[in-house]
Amino acid sequence: MMDDAPAKAAAREDKFTASGGALLRDIWYVAMTASELKRGKLHKTMFLNEPVVMGRQGDGQPFALRDICPHRAVPLSAGHILDTDGAQTVECPYHGWRFKTSDGGCAHIPSLVEGQPFDLDRIKVRAYPVIEQDDLIWIYMGSTPEAQPQGPPPSFERMVLDKGANQGKVKFFERADLACHMDHAVIGLLDPAHTPFVHKSPLWRSSKTLKEKEKHYAPTEMGFTMLSHEPVNSPLYTWLLGPGVKVEIQFLLPGLRAESISTDRHSFLGLAAITPITDELCEIREIMYWNAPVLDVVKLFARPFTQTFLDQDARIMKLQGEGLAHNPPLMQIPDADTLMVWYRRLKREWIKAGAEGRAFENPVKPATLRWRT
Ligand code: FES
Ligand SMILES: [Fe+2]
Repeated sequence: MMDDAPAKAAAREDKFTASGGALLRDIWYVAMTASELKRGKLHKTMFLNEPVVMGRQGDGQPFALRDICPHRAVPLSAGHILDTDGAQTVECPYHGWRFKTSDGGCAHIPSLVEGQPFDLDRIKVRAYPVIEQDDLIWIYMGSTPEAQPQGPPPSFERMVLDKGANQGKVKFFERADLACHMDHAVIGLLDPAHTPFVHKSPLWRSSKTLKEKEKHYAPTEMGFTMLSHEPVNSPLYTWLLGPGVKVEIQFLLPGLRAESISTDRHSFLGLAAITPITDELCEIREIMYWNAPVLDVVKLFARPFTQTFLDQDARIMKLQGEGLAHNPPLMQIPDADTLMVWYRRLKREWIKAGAEGRAFENPVKPATLRWRT
């Protein structure tokens, strides 16, 4: 019989505590949008507490390496990209060792002289699988340096990007740091009850005019979907996008929320992507795709609006951090907190399935949830 004790222990470890649970491994994260990763430059970053240097090869292909030189630990991001015998390499600024951007293998050690046989193949810096898809750079954070993805990152193509000429191009994005553990950021993203209090805006309902809502959910491959429905602010959407408005909101691991608004003619996709930098810091990007020309005009006003929205969340996360620092017990109530219960179940199952070496089985069941927001 297989020993599932480690899996059970790992799943147990993912408690709903002030300090947050495990950061998921063996999964794709949004590293950044394609436009943020410039050619010819090294981009110093960090994911899941690991220093990472990212860049683009000569042909534009993205790469990601561990940002620690295996010789004596200088960050490779302080070096530069250059060609070594036809291969793209990153040169460390300390002693000039060079590492291939394709697989992290050592390509050159300048101090070696003839007659000093040294097997360069023995030296390798970790290379992370990266892929450019839907105008985003995705990074696969494996549990071991050898771990390889089973498939590509999720694509939202079917929901929105198969209509119109601009498919797959990010039209607009905004990013913000959230000074909290990934779990609290995701829970905040999923939380319907905070909206009228945190995101006060003249454009929608305030905390004084809460309305009862009923939403229908179904499990998906790696999360759950609020089933396609006609939105409350349908007249605005119809005015912008034309008749036949349908809205669908998906959540999927590790921290992606995709809101798709489609009409007979046009479609819009707003993707919120949360990526952990450390245990106490994560990044959120609000990324938008559309094929309705009118939105190109609306976009001119969108930036301050989106920034305000993100700042409101960032502020509440920071405030929450003051309380969490004292490690208090936390609560969850029906039905407004059900989505976070599902998030935690999904996470636990992801960890357990990984430890047991079996396929992920979605623990979420179809449900109708009700709340006042
Ligand atoms: S520390 Fe990088 S080459 Fe020596
Ligand atoms: Fe929010």
